[in-house]
Amino acid sequence: MCGIVAYIGHRQAYPVILKGLKRLEYRGYDSAGVALVNHGLHVYKKKGKVADLEENLVGKNLQGTIGIGHTRWATHGEPSDRNSHPHTSTNGKLAMVHNGIIENYAPLKQELLNKGYTFSSDTDTEVLLKFIEDIQLNNECGLEEAVRIALRRIVGAYVIVIVDQDHPDTLIAARKGSPLVIGIGKGEHFLASDASPIVEYTKEVVYVNDYEVAIIRPDELILKNLGNERQTPFITKLDIELAAIEKGGYDHFMIKEIHEQPHTIQDCLRGRLDPAAGTITMAGVENHLQQLINAPRIIMVACGTSWHAGLVAEYVFEELCRIPVEVEYASEFRYRNPIIHKGDVIIAISQSGETADTLVAIDRAKEQGATIFGIVNAVGSSIARLSHAGAYTHAGPEIGVASTKAFTAQLAVLTMMALKVAAAKGTIDVKRYQHLCAELAAIPEKVALVLQKAADVKKIAARYKDARDFLYLGRGYNFPVALEGALKLKEISYIHAEGYPAAEMKHGPIALVDDQLPVVFVATKDSYHEKIVSNIQEIKARKGIVLAITSESDEVIPAMADDVFAVPEADEIVAPMLSVIPLQLLSYYVGVAKGFDVDKPRNLAKSVTVE
Ligand code: F6R
Repeated sequence: MCGIVAYIGHRQAYPVILKGLKRLEYRGYDSAGVALVNHGLHVYKKKGKVADLEENLVGKNLQGTIGIGHTRWATHGEPSDRNSHPHTSTNGKLAMVHNGIIENYAPLKQELLNKGYTFSSDTDTEVLLKFIEDIQLNNECGLEEAVRIALRRIVGAYVIVIVDQDHPDTLIAARKGSPLVIGIGKGEHFLASDASPIVEYTKEVVYVNDYEVAIIRPDELILKNLGNERQTPFITKLDIELAAIEKGGYDHFMIKEIHEQPHTIQDCLRGRLDPAAGTITMAGVENHLQQLINAPRIIMVACGTSWHAGLVAEYVFEELCRIPVEVEYASEFRYRNPIIHKGDVIIAISQSGETADTLVAIDRAKEQGATIFGIVNAVGSSIARLSHAGAYTHAGPEIGVASTKAFTAQLAVLTMMALKVAAAKGTIDVKRYQHLCAELAAIPEKVALVLQKAADVKKIAARYKDARDFLYLGRGYNFPVALEGALKLKEISYIHAEGYPAAEMKHGPIALVDDQLPVVFVATKDSYHEKIVSNIQEIKARKGIVLAITSESDEVIPAMADDVFAVPEADEIVAPMLSVIPLQLLSYYVGVAKGFDVDKPRNLAKSVTVE
């Protein structure tokens, strides 16, 4: 959360930074700011979105070939002009942007207050900057050394970038726990929280590691650890294209990403699944196949939508591989002193690969000897690098704050992984294995068929948009899909929605049912079908309004439901990749109909790099 962009080189820094901040706005959008050095330090910041800042800066002096920028998701201090970044030092010479949380900011602030420092914001960032300034003064040292000394005392997560008006040829940056990418150009460098602001200028990047400090000049990039030892920058090549991070004619990233799913699932399967030969090639899994086969237990660790993917995978792995699976919220797992047995395998699922809770959870599990598999979308991200092995989901950059295409790609990867383990373990017969490979290979085409009927969901959304609450119900593989549908609706349309296993409804939630409550049943044809038909009858008997996601051949549910959206037939193991699509569309169209900014829903940020 929070997006950082910085530039040093021969171009004007402001346009590069502004464009970059717009690309990173999905990381937080409650305030924005820039600092430029050009015969002195010029700092501009404002509560609101990047566009508000831009409007406010018309006519201002925005010259300078070095600068830093920030788009904020508030942690310490409410969104306001004074809490916006960049923050400045007492002497007015330094400006700093920060992403993360300084956990021990309170004692540091007290130390500084005792020395007579004053603060113009409520942020932990200003405390860190003034702490650095104080060290610089006391030790009579340069900024780089002061940063290294200061960071040795910091508890928490950070990416910081600092400009110094007395050294307009140098940026100082550092990272621990939050992401920082440096793009390498000819006589210029680009810094950002992810590669999206960089990709149009250069494909050569360095991912800064934890506890590294970067000293960046137009022609030079030096990395050091906190002990002042030089580190070798490891240059990697970006494989994303500019088109992948632009809207490409769609109104919002969310709807573009929903429509990309036939391709993203295909990209995820490509080169791995060969249904004709009956083979699944996944190097990460192959290298650790014995560990997976012999695992006494698999623990899925994730947050939010990725956690829902883990829940679907629990059903799939238990059914196909006969391995007990637990699905853990990373935020609970990391603090719970969890019991990890020898041989347990952790599967960490994350779109961004930067979610702080998931990152720390796997770190804890690693300390206890567990093998970590990362199922990650963002290439080169922290979770990918911390895992022993894994598989990328290859869904491409996901920019809409609500996760859509990452979810279906996660399901595709996890299903391939389960099939591979089951085949090696002998817990699946050849016929079923081949059938499931074919079913999985057919998913992209079937998703395309669902998307052809997006206009039908739009009409349904128009009818339901004013409902106050929603209930989402599903059984078996579709139970996590019901949870995901409810989460999407909450995020995008701010309508209260709850997901439940359909049978569990009788144990409480049924009390909510009346003729005003839409109940969304995720009820494609599977082994639970008769049971869910009974659950629909129970809702209808109480005058509830039923919107059902069914299979095309279903004749029973359409006769009972108020509204129906049918998806193509599919084996129940792969069906969630189809049944979730209308629910993604429903939340999108309801949000749009209500006039909300669906790509930037209130209070949310795409990449949750704070705990
Ligand atoms: C929901 C959503 C979030 C994320 C969660 C985990 O639409 O996007 O719930 O799924 O914050 O993020 P990742 O997958 O990046 O670890």
